[in-house]
Amino acid sequence: MDWRERFYCGELSQTQAGKEVLLMGWVDAIRDHGKLLFIHMRDVRGIVQVVFNPETSADCYRKASSLKEEYVVEVRGEVAARERGTENPNLETGGVEVLARDLSILSRAKPLPFQISEKAMVYGEEVQTGPEHVDEEIRLRYRYLDLRRPSMQEILLKRNEIYKCIRQYLDQLQFIEVETPFLTKSTPEGARDYLVPSRVHQGRFYALPQSPQLFKQILMMSGMDRYYQIARCFRDEDLRPNRQPEFTQLDLEASFIDEEFLYEFIEELAVRMFSVGGIDLPRPFPRITYEEAMTRYGTDRPDLRFGMAFQDATDILELTGYKVFRKIIQAGGLIKGFCVRGQAKNLSKNILQNEYTLKIVPSFGGQGMTWMKVLDGKLESNIVQFFTLTEQQALIGRFRAQEGDVLMMIADTSPETVHRVLSDLRLHVAHRLGLVQEGRFSPLWVTHFPLFELKDGVLSSRHHPFTMPDRVDFDPQNKDECLELHSRAYDLVVNGEELGGGSIRIHDTDTQKKIFHALGLGPAEAEEKFGFFLRALEYGAPPHGGLALGIDRVVAMILGAASIRDVIAFPKNRRALCPLSRAPSPVDQSQLGELGLFKGSEGPLPRRHGTIPVPMGASGPAGVQLERISEEEVRHVAKLARLKITKAEARTYQKELNAVLEHFATLQELDTEGIEPMSHVLDMKNVWRDDRPGKSKKTDSMLQNAPEKESAYFKVPRILEG
Ligand code: AMO
Repeated sequence: MDWRERFYCGELSQTQAGKEVLLMGWVDAIRDHGKLLFIHMRDVRGIVQVVFNPETSADCYRKASSLKEEYVVEVRGEVAARERGTENPNLETGGVEVLARDLSILSRAKPLPFQISEKAMVYGEEVQTGPEHVDEEIRLRYRYLDLRRPSMQEILLKRNEIYKCIRQYLDQLQFIEVETPFLTKSTPEGARDYLVPSRVHQGRFYALPQSPQLFKQILMMSGMDRYYQIARCFRDEDLRPNRQPEFTQLDLEASFIDEEFLYEFIEELAVRMFSVGGIDLPRPFPRITYEEAMTRYGTDRPDLRFGMAFQDATDILELTGYKVFRKIIQAGGLIKGFCVRGQAKNLSKNILQNEYTLKIVPSFGGQGMTWMKVLDGKLESNIVQFFTLTEQQALIGRFRAQEGDVLMMIADTSPETVHRVLSDLRLHVAHRLGLVQEGRFSPLWVTHFPLFELKDGVLSSRHHPFTMPDRVDFDPQNKDECLELHSRAYDLVVNGEELGGGSIRIHDTDTQKKIFHALGLGPAEAEEKFGFFLRALEYGAPPHGGLALGIDRVVAMILGAASIRDVIAFPKNRRALCPLSRAPSPVDQSQLGELGLFKGSEGPLPRRHGTIPVPMGASGPAGVQLERISEEEVRHVAKLARLKITKAEARTYQKELNAVLEHFATLQELDTEGIEPMSHVLDMKNVWRDDRPGKSKKTDSMLQNAPEKESAYFKVPRILEG
C-alpha cells in the first residue's frame, strides 16, 4: 500500500488540478448517470467527487459499477476543475473532481442498517440522513458506522482540539499531568461505586474512582505543586441526560493558592476552550453566593441568560384581605414571584388560568399560581379585587412592573416548595416564550455553599468531606452549629448547567478528623476508609485547592450537542448499557468461581461440558457463554430420580431449565452475602432419631396398610422400566 503517496479527499482543491493523486477511503454515495459513474469518496478530512468514465478506463469503470456504499476503495486519478455550473457548494472540495484511472476495492460492506452519507451529490438536493433521523439505540449499536458521519467526526476532532488547548495552557502554567489509579479504594463523591473483585485476594474489592480526589490531594502532599489529569471517573448513580456512568473530568489541584487563583485561571481556561467553538465568554464571571442563588432563582445553578429574578411579596401581603395569602403567611409561608416583561398579550387569561394555574404549576408540585397583568397602569387578574390599591401599587413597585408585564406568583407554607416550583416555572416560561437568547453564554461562580446538609436527619457533606469550612473552631457534636458552617467551595455554572466544582481543601489532620466526627464517622471507620489519607496529612501537607470540570458537559455545550452522549465516542445508553459491546453481560460461572464470588465454591468451578455460545441478536454471536443443559442430561437426571419421561417431556424440561438458567444469568446483582449454603432440606433436628431401642413390632402390624403383600414383603407399582 503506497501510503506515502496518499492524498486526503478533503484536502483537494484547484491548486492540485492536473495532478495525479492516490486516495483511500470509503464510498459515501453513488450516482450512476448511465454513461458516467460518480461517487463521493470520504475520509477523515472530507469528501471529494470521483468520476469513472468508460472511455478513460473501461476496466476501472466496470469495477466501479459494482461499488456499494461504504466499500473501502483506493482510487488513482487526476484532479480536474469542475465545469462551470457543476460545482457542488455542499463540499469544501466542490470545485474539483478526480477523474479515476485505477480502482481497487479494499473491502466490501454489507447493506447498511442506516444511511451514513450526509452530503447531497447534487447541489440543492435535500439529504435527511443526519444523526437526528436515526434511532439512538441503533446508532449506538453500530457506533462504528455512526462515527463515520462527517458531523460525528467533526465532534471528535473538536474534542481533540479542546484537549490540545487545555494541555497547552496548563503546560504554560507548569501544571504536571499525572495518572492516578483506576483500581483503588472508594472515594466519597456521593454516588455508588463500581466494584472490581480481586482474584488474588478473594472477598476483597477494588473500587473504580468516582474522581481522583484523594490521590490528587496526596500528590500535593507529595510536593507536586500543580497537577492535572484528563481523568475517567465512574459513578453508579441514577442516569440523567447530562450524566454518564463513566465520564471524563479535567481534574486539577494546586498548592499554596487561594480561591482567587482558581477563579482567575479557570476563567482564562474556559475562555480559551469555548473559543475553540467560536464562542466568546464574557469575563470576569459574576459570582453569587449559594444563598443568593436560592433566594433569587430557587436553584444553585441559575441560568442567567434571561432575567426574571424572584421578588418577595410576603411583607407587602402580610395583612392582606385575601384570606388564602394571609393564612399561608401566618403559617410561616412565602409569597414570591417574578415579572415576565411585555408578555401580557401572549399570555391570555385563558392560558394563565387554565394552563399555568391548573396544569403546569401543579405538574411542578405547586398548588396553583397567582397571576396579575399590568394594564392601564393597574393590576388585572381574577383575584385582584381582594387587594387594596396600596397593596397593588406596592406589588407593581416591588416587581418594577411596567405596562404589558405579567406577574407570576407562588404562595405556599413551605418556602422550599415556593423556590422549587418558581425555579421550574421560570425555566418553563423562558423556553416557552422564547426568552432564552440563542448563542448567549452566561457563566458564573456559585460560592459560599453550606458545608453540610441534612439527609434523612443525618449530617452529610454537600460537596465532599475534604472541603475546607469557612471556620474551623466549630463543635462537631453541635448539629445546628455544623449546619451553619459554609464551605470554601465553588461551582462553575454556565447557562444553568453545572460544568465544574471544587474547593480549597482541609490540610490539617485535626480539622479533617473533626469533619469526620461531625459526619458520624467514628475513628475506627475513618481509619478503615481513609487511614492512608489521614496519615499523609500528618507529614507536612501544603495548603491546597482545586477543581474538576465535567469535560463531556463542557464539550457538549461548546459544540451545541443535544446530549453528552453525542460527544463521547462510545457512550452508554440511557439505561447504562453499551449497545455496541452489550456490556454489562453475564460471565462464565467458572470466572465467578475463580473470583470466589460463589459462596461455598473454593477456587474455580469445574467447567461443564457442552457450553454453547448464546446468539446475541442479529449482529451475530457476541461471545457470551451460558452453560446450557442438554436433553441427555435431563434424561440422566430423570433416571437418577427414577422418573420415566417421554422424549417430548425431556425436551420441555430442557427448555424450561435453560430458560431458568438464562434468567439467572441476567441476575448479576444477586446478593448472597450472609446467606448460608443449604446443605439439607430438612431441619436437622428432625433427621436423626434418638438411638434408643424401641418396642419391636410384629410383621403383620407393620404390613397392615400395604395394598398388596406377599409373605413378609409388600408390593410396589413398577415405576422404573428399561
Ligand atoms: P463533582 O462531583 O462536582 O466534583 O464533579 C465535577 C464535575 O464533573 C461533572 N460530572 C459528571 N459528568 C457526567 N456524568 C456524570 N455522572 C457526572 N458527575 C459529575 C460535572 C461536575 O461539575 N472531586 C470533585 C472535584 C474537586 O473537588 O476538585 C468532584 O468530582 O460537570
